[in-house]
Amino acid sequence: MKSTRITIIGTGYVGLVSGTCFAEVGHQVTCVDKDPQKIALLQKGGIPIYEPGLEELIQRNVAAGRLRFTESTAEGVANSEVIFIAVPTPPQPDGSVDLSFIEGVAREIASHLTTYRIIVDKSTVPVKTAEKVAETIRRYCKSKAEFDVVSNPEFLREGFAVEDLMKPDRIVIGVGSQRPVTAMKELYEPFQAPIIVTDTNSAELIKHAANSFLALKISYANALSVICEAAGANVQEVTRGMGLDARIGTRFLQASLGFGGSCFPKDLSAFIQISSQLGYDFRLLKEVQRINADQMDRFLKKLTDTLWVLKDKRIGVLGLAFKQNTDDVRTSPAIEVCQRLVKEGAILRVYDPQAMDKAKALLPPGPQVEYVATQDAVPEGCDALVIATEWPQFTQLDLTQTRRVMNTPIVIDGRNLFDPEEMERLGFIYKSIGRAA
Ligand code: UDX
Repeated sequence: MKSTRITIIGTGYVGLVSGTCFAEVGHQVTCVDKDPQKIALLQKGGIPIYEPGLEELIQRNVAAGRLRFTESTAEGVANSEVIFIAVPTPPQPDGSVDLSFIEGVAREIASHLTTYRIIVDKSTVPVKTAEKVAETIRRYCKSKAEFDVVSNPEFLREGFAVEDLMKPDRIVIGVGSQRPVTAMKELYEPFQAPIIVTDTNSAELIKHAANSFLALKISYANALSVICEAAGANVQEVTRGMGLDARIGTRFLQASLGFGGSCFPKDLSAFIQISSQLGYDFRLLKEVQRINADQMDRFLKKLTDTLWVLKDKRIGVLGLAFKQNTDDVRTSPAIEVCQRLVKEGAILRVYDPQAMDKAKALLPPGPQVEYVATQDAVPEGCDALVIATEWPQFTQLDLTQTRRVMNTPIVIDGRNLFDPEEMERLGFIYKSIGRAA
């Protein structure tokens, strides 16, 4: 394979995992971040995020001399043919996307540009951003060097990022001219995945459209869960039956207490805003948001219907991350559950295998919130136990012991981890999502 010299600006999930995987397949990678602490940590072999498999991959590629970290954009632009922009695009209060980091990096690249470079938008950005990046670089590049801007959105899932990047379903490459196509195809050749070459606007829309569709799929399952409860049906059976139709598939059809994370909520709001600015009122996606918010309300109502008064009740919560396999708590449904229970005066015992450190900023330890060292210790003395994140190890909970140590045997399961019949046989009052008790 042809080794390409690559610079990645931004060492968040997408930047760090992309850079590491590019190095793993043989490219020469420089990761740039303006945060000196982050760069120092990475240079010492530490990683700022929990991502299965990432730490050893970084260490192996740093040792092989294919991966390095620096604060200097100038260095990155000087010694790489392809420069990826992978900086945050955070949501604004009105749901639109804050592109100030993108614009800042574009101007910084422009100031160091002296010879032809391919500049790649890896961050999730609204349609027409590539055009604005090109216009910005033209305006601020004093050397008038030639360049191409490419849109190359990322589809990795947190917690499965290395797997998703090393074995992608597809590579999307949006270009404004044919000049960068060969180099981009060579760069991605080692991943052996279908490559779509299209225009930049279509490439940018693929990302928001795909994420919004996945969120829609989850909200469809969550809407079904409400109907199943009313009909005495089992949403897991319904979605299993649906999913065997190859046109539907079973993935992202698991009913839950609602989706969260740093992508779906943000990308949905952004896509609604983008569509509105383009003159389309995307009411379907507004309904996806409404169903998701409603699902959280319904989940908490299961608790209040069962416990009646929440004030001074001792409630165990298993899970704080927004999903399994990550320590990320941004827009986590589990954190929202805890915050709403604290507001009602409940006293919480909480545990998460990875996310407890990051959770403390949003859910400070105190008289109402105790962080517990093991999952088995959470139910002690509790009036109810809430399952909030789909960590597989929670299914290993010793239910007989749990029944014995709880004050009242009430389990409210937001992730359908347990079997209703077995829970009833063990003497629990068990409520879950879309499945009759
Ligand atoms: C998502 C997209 O999957 C990924 O392709 C994109 O690049 C970034 O956004 P991520 O936010 O990491 O990835 O998490 P994801 O695995 O999609 O889960 C999002 C939320 O949906 C989580 O809260 C998860 O618990 C929830 N979920 C997922 C469900 O409630 N039901 C499901 O069936 C699947």
